[in-house]
Amino acid sequence: MNERFAGKVALVTGGASGIGAAIARQLAREGAQVVVADLDKGGLEKIAAEIGERALTYRLDVGNVEEVEALVDYAEHECGALHLAVNNAGIGGPSVATADYPVDGWHRVIDVNLNSVFYGMKYEIPAMLRAGGGAIVNMSSILGSVGWATAAAYTTAKHGMLGLTKVAALEYAKAGVRVNAVGPGFIETPLLSNNLSPEVLGGLAGLHPVGRLGKPEEVAALTCFLLSNEASFVTGSYYLVDGGYVAR
Ligand code: NAI
Repeated sequence: MNERFAGKVALVTGGASGIGAAIARQLAREGAQVVVADLDKGGLEKIAAEIGERALTYRLDVGNVEEVEALVDYAEHECGALHLAVNNAGIGGPSVATADYPVDGWHRVIDVNLNSVFYGMKYEIPAMLRAGGGAIVNMSSILGSVGWATAAAYTTAKHGMLGLTKVAALEYAKAGVRVNAVGPGFIETPLLSNNLSPEVLGGLAGLHPVGRLGKPEEVAALTCFLLSNEASFVTGSYYLVDGGYVAR
């Protein structure tokens, strides 16, 4: 078995479902101790049971800075260090045109999808510096590259985190902390299946030149590459895993 992450401690937010769960599974399979963090207590129990002793769980709201600070503190002290982090938790938010977009919905999406990435890096980076270096992946989207009518806050958050990713990468490159972002196309996860009908999902599949939706494992594979030493010269970048969506 490939043990690229043997001896590493990794943190994955939104790790109880979908893309985050696939990343947590792969990291653990490849040797990491993984702290799976999420709001969903039941989902955390399921993934912990599935992964076994290489998973620790932590329940939090990533939109709350004090809770994010406590999460990083937990990971570092419970596992002895923090080397890898995936800031992945996210929500879709309201689906209405900009002039009708509710202000409270705007703030919640920006808190959970964008401010959380700043909160995460604010505490993850010092922990990684104490560990002698590390790597971070921030989960953006194809909507970090292009727009989607009726998704003002989501699209803003996914674009915004790319700027944040570049700045942090520049600041900590010499200190040995790499920071990159990943941009999935539409991926088969509960985020989609809980909110969209099979007909709508079929229509979304057709927007990807490969003719289907992506799988969480396909996003995990790219994310784990960026977290691994194989990507030692890769920082400040944004990688799509989108079946050709943005190339159209
Ligand atoms: P999902 O809904 O399957 O999983 C998201 C997880 O985040 C859930 O376990 C949820 O409980 C957790 N979460 C939500 N709000 C939270 C909060 N405030 N604090 C802590 N945990 C919270 O979604 P999926 O599809 O796996 O999405 C993961 C990331 O990938 C998100 O950032 C999403 O925007 C992004 N993404 C997803 C795409 C898709 O088509 N599924 C496409 C592009 C990006």
